[in-house]
Amino acid sequence: MQSITYTASSPGKLILCGEHAVVYGRPAIALPLRDLRATVAVMPAPSPGIHFAALDLSDKWRLDQRPDDSLSLLVGETLRYLNAQPNLALMIRITSVIPIASGMGSGAAVATALVRALAAFFTADLSAATISELVYQNERRLHGTPSGIDNTVVAFEQPIWFERKNQTHTPHPSSLTPSMEPITIAAPFTLLIADTGVRSATKLPVGDLRRRWQADTPRYEALFDQIGGVAHAVRAALAEGNMPELGRLLDQNHVLLCELGVSSTELDTLVAAAKHAGALGAKLSGAGWGGVMLALVDPGDATRVAASLRTAGAASVLETMVTAAEISANRL
Ligand code: MEV
Repeated sequence: MQSITYTASSPGKLILCGEHAVVYGRPAIALPLRDLRATVAVMPAPSPGIHFAALDLSDKWRLDQRPDDSLSLLVGETLRYLNAQPNLALMIRITSVIPIASGMGSGAAVATALVRALAAFFTADLSAATISELVYQNERRLHGTPSGIDNTVVAFEQPIWFERKNQTHTPHPSSLTPSMEPITIAAPFTLLIADTGVRSATKLPVGDLRRRWQADTPRYEALFDQIGGVAHAVRAALAEGNMPELGRLLDQNHVLLCELGVSSTELDTLVAAAKHAGALGAKLSGAGWGGVMLALVDPGDATRVAASLRTAGAASVLETMVTAAEISANRL
């Protein structure tokens, strides 16, 4: 075992379009948020056992005290994967600047940084695909039926086109196999990300939508088809650098998400405020019922639209420049 500290970090994420429908086999586009990161440090502990310290939450526990905690289970699985010796004395320190339950992938980022830091500690070279798969199992424990888009964009840390493809012609989400492709972004563009301040666990709107889909499958399948069509058109607009078209499509995606029943008064208020202040397009991002929305803006309009978002009740506003290679997010 090594005697020094190993640290790894992972970005948050933003879903540009296609959330929820992606669980049911339609495509979606996700972006990593390079400057909004979770960091995990792994080091030897002075006493036996695996010790966790979630510093932002002032929470500490030992793995054997909370064996069913999702991070405890993830550590167990990762150590088994790494063939690490049992009876370790390890300290795992977690910090994150990604707001929890806000639609920005905080859970996937913490889990990914944790797997990366453990792999570094045990000098193992895990591929992004392996890390993503380990984190996907963790997402399943937290969310029940995740599409896998969050763990994939966070582990690969690049803008992605993500789809769970139907291999069996059975229209059930669990029978779909994930696939990911990089996307072409012809021209950089600016997004504002405004947080409603309302925390909502992903599994709640996802589970509620699942029940409604079961009760009226044709209605929801038709909405998912329309959202899938929007995702294809967004991909084309990004490849052409056509910002007015991208804005129009984001608006359309928000209307469809409202029809799915995953928006909220707070999200709709921020979307309307952004549009009123001159955003090219705006929509909720992530699971909904709270969390964040995004607005596509001309860079020169960013300050004005951000001010309107704050006046309309946004708890915080980030400005994000999206380019082919990297995405940075700065607090305004
Ligand atoms: C959550 O970030 C995105 C959802 O589509 C759920 C999922 O894809 O697992 C709402």
